[in-house]
Amino acid sequence: MQALQSIPNHIVCLADHEAEARRVLDDNAWAYFAGGAADELTLQANVQAWQRTQLLPRVLNALQGGHTQVQLLGRTLAHPVLLAPVAYQRMAHPDGELATALAAAAQGAGLVLSTQASTPLEHVAQAYQCMAGDPASDTPGPLWFQLYLQPERDVTLHLLSRAEAAGYQAIVLTVDAPVHGARDRERRAGFRLPPGIRAVNLPMHLPANPPATDTLPDSTSAFESVLQHAPTWADVRWLVQATRLPVLLKGILHPDDARQALDIGAAGVIVSNHGGRTLDTTLPTAHALPGVAQAVGTQMAVLADGGIRRGTDVFKALVLGAHAVLVGKPYIYGLAHAGAVGVAHTIRLLRDEFEIALALCGCATPAHIRPEHLFK
Ligand code: FNR
Ligand code: LAC
Repeated sequence: MQALQSIPNHIVCLADHEAEARRVLDDNAWAYFAGGAADELTLQANVQAWQRTQLLPRVLNALQGGHTQVQLLGRTLAHPVLLAPVAYQRMAHPDGELATALAAAAQGAGLVLSTQASTPLEHVAQAYQCMAGDPASDTPGPLWFQLYLQPERDVTLHLLSRAEAAGYQAIVLTVDAPVHGARDRERRAGFRLPPGIRAVNLPMHLPANPPATDTLPDSTSAFESVLQHAPTWADVRWLVQATRLPVLLKGILHPDDARQALDIGAAGVIVSNHGGRTLDTTLPTAHALPGVAQAVGTQMAVLADGGIRRGTDVFKALVLGAHAVLVGKPYIYGLAHAGAVGVAHTIRLLRDEFEIALALCGCATPAHIRPEHLFK
């Protein structure tokens, strides 16, 4: 991979990558990658909630032997930043998910591949594993597969067995999007997938998930049929039995849902509102995280995503009880204008900022983070 030095010097933070991405993406792709649901209040609130959470640093602590490593589901990760599942990445850059996989592995970041990836899941796993085996790469993060339950069990089972065979280490079941959100920005832009881009891991005849009810011919009956296939807790119970891999539920905001996930044998939850892309005006994830972490945080993995744009946000998420975090839009912006190097640079920036935040809050390692590091 080209060195990170090829990124121009004026790009020094994630917002700078976003500005570059806006220049290179057309209006169609921009509406999809940058947009959220309805008035995009949750999209903005996610970012603002981290920004408004205030740090209360401690000084003069010994920082020798410091590092950014964390433990997650029995593994040691180089740092707590994973890449969230994002669909159709070849619409952002021709190298798409392959570039993302190379960059994630090189930077020691975990990667969650979307069911709606535009690249075969086996190719992505190969790229990730191959780069993670490179001595120049950091400790590899976990490689997980994000699942949208398919209306036909056979299709789901086939996806699961492919993911298991390819070496994915966990299944991330997304539970907050039984239907597509009201995506006003996409509708205004007349969003269409460009020719040649599709969810290649799903059979050709299936519609995209979550199904966009507004584009279906007879809206009422289409909505009903979509909801007939909407996953329930019984499906999660089935899934936990159907795969030998640990299952995490993505899109949990309520502590009782986290408890239920624990009860039925899930290995973890991801506190998420889908980056504000499904239901608008939900609680921002920074505010939902503490309740979920208190309910289940000592008994299962708790991750969070939505609006994380700075290393200080990563630090705050860990104070509030997350064991690790995910980012979605930020690495897509890096990908869009600079391919794998852009993704790698984005991860590197977040990790460096996180390291600085640790040191300036008086923590040698993430294990030293305490609730008192935030002002209440
Ligand atoms: C997503 N997200 C998502 N989630 C999921 O479970 N499956 C998917 O296929 C997708 N696709 C997707 C596409 C795009 C363009 C975006 C921006 C997001 C949601 C994603 O995994 C994550 O929850 C959010 O992106 C996190 O918020 P930030 O970091 O983007 O603010
Ligand atoms: C999205 C779906 C694919 O957020 O999860 O666009």
